[in-house]
Amino acid sequence: MAQLVLIMFVLSQATALCINVTAASVETKANDADRLQELHEIQEDLKMKLKQFETMMESEVGKLKEKVELLETKVQEQDDLLKKCQAGTSDAIGSLRNVEESNLKRAVLNPKTCLEARTADPSLESGMFFIDPDGQGRGDDPIYVYCNMTTGSTSVLHDSEDSIAVSHCFEPGCYTREIKYNATLRQMTMLSELSNVCQQSIQVDCYDAAFEFNSVPYAWWNDRNGDPRYFWSGMNNNSSGRYHTCQCGLDGSCKDKSLSCNCDSDLAIELSDVGILSEKDLLPVTKLNFGRTIAPTSMNRHTLGRLECNGKVVLNGMPTSCQDLWRIGYTLSGIYSIKGSSNKVETVYCDFTKLPGDEELQTWIGYTDVKSDPVHFTVARKTSFTTLNTAISFDEETLNTGNALNTSTGIFAAPRNGTYFFAFSSFAENQYSTLSFYLQLNDATIATCITSYGLFYCNIPFTLKLSTGDRVQVSLQQGSTNNAIFTGWLLAEDIFK
Ligand SMILES: *[C@@H]1O[C@H](CO)[C@@H](O)[C@H](O)[C@H]1NC(C)=O
Ligand SMILES: *[C@@H]1O[C@H](CO)[C@@H](O)[C@H](O)[C@H]1NC(C)=O
Ligand SMILES: *[C@@H]1O[C@H](CO)[C@@H](O)[C@H](O)[C@H]1NC(C)=O
Ligand SMILES: *[C@@H]1O[C@H](CO)[C@@H](O)[C@H](O)[C@H]1NC(C)=O
Ligand SMILES: *[C@@H]1O[C@H](CO)[C@@H](O)[C@H](O)[C@H]1NC(C)=O
Ligand SMILES: *[C@@H]1O[C@H](CO)[C@@H](O)[C@H](O)[C@H]1NC(C)=O
Repeated sequence: MAQLVLIMFVLSQATALCINVTAASVETKANDADRLQELHEIQEDLKMKLKQFETMMESEVGKLKEKVELLETKVQEQDDLLKKCQAGTSDAIGSLRNVEESNLKRAVLNPKTCLEARTADPSLESGMFFIDPDGQGRGDDPIYVYCNMTTGSTSVLHDSEDSIAVSHCFEPGCYTREIKYNATLRQMTMLSELSNVCQQSIQVDCYDAAFEFNSVPYAWWNDRNGDPRYFWSGMNNNSSGRYHTCQCGLDGSCKDKSLSCNCDSDLAIELSDVGILSEKDLLPVTKLNFGRTIAPTSMNRHTLGRLECNGKVVLNGMPTSCQDLWRIGYTLSGIYSIKGSSNKVETVYCDFTKLPGDEELQTWIGYTDVKSDPVHFTVARKTSFTTLNTAISFDEETLNTGNALNTSTGIFAAPRNGTYFFAFSSFAENQYSTLSFYLQLNDATIATCITSYGLFYCNIPFTLKLSTGDRVQVSLQQGSTNNAIFTGWLLAEDIFK
């Protein structure tokens, strides 16, 4: 635009110049025709030049206009492009955010159990969810389960939830149905490890088809490990032998009171046994086996509930293993302190890439020397001590951390349960007479020392296991001393009861 204005200005100046020239030529007209002619020629020349200039300018202006137009369209294009770009970027950012949000959602949506999901978001409604009992990002893939968000329970679906008729056959377990869960055994085992309660309901409707007849078992289920089980309700309360019972057997309400299942009656009437298997370390039921259904009228129908787990394993007190740590949510492998079995703190390495049940989950490293309060002392007797059968007292105290030794009475009182080390050493005041001391725990003598001619030292080193309040002292039995040292310390404390 500025260029265009400049060109207009140049044009108008050129026209003004031309007018001035014309005025000058009129004044000199009278003098000379030649001159007039000359002037005319100049005028014509000028006119022509002006015309040329004008056309040139016109074409230049035209070109410039074209250029300006071109520029304007270009600017418009750039503008459009910029707008598109901005819109595009915000689109890209938007989709990025969506990805992040869905990732975040997925991270929250793959809790270990339904209870965990509910705890994280109490507004969730019951339905199918992905959970990952063996931990996010390792082990088996997440599993798709039913979450009851009212109770926080997790249910694993399987292919035998309907009432299914057993085919006719005679031998024990001639009918077998493998239960296919929509989860791996490992995921279900971890779910049960994390849960307080796991159970599975089972109903068997029967007609002339006993579970057990004349002590021969015809029906059983297989547990998580594939072992046969003959109880149809409750816990595996009797591990001795082949535990066989149904709910009516536990209640004492079976059709035939001498039997422990309604179906054991083997009667030609419709009966049923309904129970809830609640031995969570054996669940889920992996197979159902029946037999003795050979008669055309014999009938067994089974209805197996989902594996339903609820609650959270409660740790009573301190963790005693890597498994405990895993249960309370530790996932980073590393060195940990646990409550050892020996009343001491133990150090272990937990490899949380392994799972409960895997030996490599925990590697024992050693005892951790923890003292709730340090106890150690070194005291001396430098003046003559002659009182027999009395604890020797001390007049020099080098060290008495924890003040467990009372120097004026010479009695050590154990401040904590633990293992203590003591050492007593003394010279006889008169090297030619006998010197004798004895070490007492509470009121019992547990060690003695004696010097006789030529044997100058009286030494008692001793390691003792003491309980809080136990008294240890050294008493003079014979002779006298003016040079005794008594030292002791807490070697290892029993940290736990
Ligand atoms: C079984 O689990 C898979 C994912 O592991 C899921 O896609 C599928 O819908 C589940 N089937 C049933 C019947 O729930
Ligand atoms: C959740 O479990 C409770 C107790 O078993 C039951 O009464 C309720 O119907 C269940 N709710 C859903 C939505 O499954
Ligand atoms: C089995 O043992 C458990 C725990 O020891 C107990 O709560 C339960 O009443 C017993 N009986 C049955 C039938 O599960
Ligand atoms: C456990 O089973 C054995 C053998 O079957 C039986 O003799 C015993 O009475 C049972 N004990 C209990 C507590 O049920
Ligand atoms: C040592 O024991 C005596 C006598 O029982 C008592 O009076 C004194 O306070 C005790 N000293 C310390 C430091 O406990
Ligand atoms: C100390 O040991 C005694 C005996 O072994 C035991 O009865 C007591 O509970 C223990 N006390 C503590 C605090 O551990």
